[in-house]
Amino acid sequence: MSNITVAGTGYVGLVTGVCLAEVGHQVTCVDNNDEKINLLRQGISPIYEPGLDELIVKNTENGKLDFTTDYQSVYAHSDVIFIGVGTPENEDGSANLNYVFTVAKEIAESVEQDCLVVVKSTVPIGTNDRVEAYIKAHLKHNVKIEVASNPEFLAQGTAVRDTLYASRIVIGTESDEAKQILMDVYEPFKLPILAMNRRSAEMVKYASNDFLALKISFINDIANLCEKVGANIEDVTNGMSYDERIGNRFLNPGIGYGGSCFPKDTKALHWLAEEEGYILRTVKAAIDVNEKQKYALIKKARNDFPTFNEKKVAVLGLTFKPGTDDLREAPSIPNIRLLLNEGAHIQAFDPVGIENYKKLFPDQISYKHSIEEALEDAELCFIFTEWPEIKEMDLGLFKEKMKTPYIYDGRNCFSLYEIQNKGVNYHSIGRPSVIEYGVLDEVQA
Ligand code: UDX
Repeated sequence: MSNITVAGTGYVGLVTGVCLAEVGHQVTCVDNNDEKINLLRQGISPIYEPGLDELIVKNTENGKLDFTTDYQSVYAHSDVIFIGVGTPENEDGSANLNYVFTVAKEIAESVEQDCLVVVKSTVPIGTNDRVEAYIKAHLKHNVKIEVASNPEFLAQGTAVRDTLYASRIVIGTESDEAKQILMDVYEPFKLPILAMNRRSAEMVKYASNDFLALKISFINDIANLCEKVGANIEDVTNGMSYDERIGNRFLNPGIGYGGSCFPKDTKALHWLAEEEGYILRTVKAAIDVNEKQKYALIKKARNDFPTFNEKKVAVLGLTFKPGTDDLREAPSIPNIRLLLNEGAHIQAFDPVGIENYKKLFPDQISYKHSIEEALEDAELCFIFTEWPEIKEMDLGLFKEKMKTPYIYDGRNCFSLYEIQNKGVNYHSIGRPSVIEYGVLDEVQA
């Protein structure tokens, strides 16, 4: 088994390192953040990811996994170094490669033996070539270095499973030797390995993410039209999904995609295409639809509440999706900003996202630790994330707890059948509204 180092202990780096140790490799994870490394050494993951802590503890105890800030000594004697650092978005939409090149510099200055550098971070097409040239130009010792591309397809909340049981492993190399090293590293996973050149591998990652983003924006577009023409998006997607060419996944309408990948990777590929003098019209459409979709719920609520000033607003769900405490590009954020700017009083519940939300909105929101408390006396309620606790909540609570039960559900958490006869006004995405508040009371009276 190879002696492997992973640079970066964010989602990609940490999960990669832990899973490589789990299949039997000797792995050291490197990060320049002391606090993170100290936590990891105690078996505590700095990110919320189901199943990760257990694997960290197990593999640290059995001596397969180690954490350090001392990159020099580990880079010096690694067979393979994975780069799994972040590539955030620049203001113009392009990918910021500062972290990648910082690690490349540290590698160049430290390696003392032949080594394969594997870029796992999502990087624009051609970056691997640049990283290789950069390292070679800055090497301190006379060693042989090659760079390979090995994009990552894990989703937050299911990252460990997505890595250990990945749909495929894509490796992009420019030599048979590099290809063989990566084939050996991944052999214990017993998964399909697709080998290609570096630029194709870099492109697989962007094309996959942008296609999924496009799928979501397409279905959001169709959902919005369903509302206008009296169709129900649930029946429509169900009807579409029986065609195997379409499938039944990533067709859930909502208030747009968030997270650390789709928003960034759509913009980065569009930007890159423009640099090449080509306009990626489909990707641009996905970006535009998503930007507008974020406000789909507010638009519906406006019909009932011309102003949110002084309104008591319940918010259920803050994170960009369930199963994570990550708030990057969470659609809840621009909505909450808008509500606060208009003078609304917000009572918010999220099972794991509150601590991170407090960093963004320390005092302006009243954070609640239960759905009941968030609904108490509220005049309207927005649902931004489909957490299981929200999907499975007692629907009688809306009428029982709220002052006026107006519900705007951005993730279609409840079936229309279930929400009927609950005495609420319920608006979701791409489905007919249920209007019972007031109406039902009159009938009953
Ligand atoms: C995504 C990709 O799934 C993963 O393969 C890639 O490596 C990284 O980006 P992630 O961002 O963690 O993973 O979450 P994902 O589950 O894909 O959801 C992204 C966003 O799309 C969320 O905001 C989610 O709510 C939204 N979404 C997803 C929809 O609106 N509808 C859907 O049908 C699916």
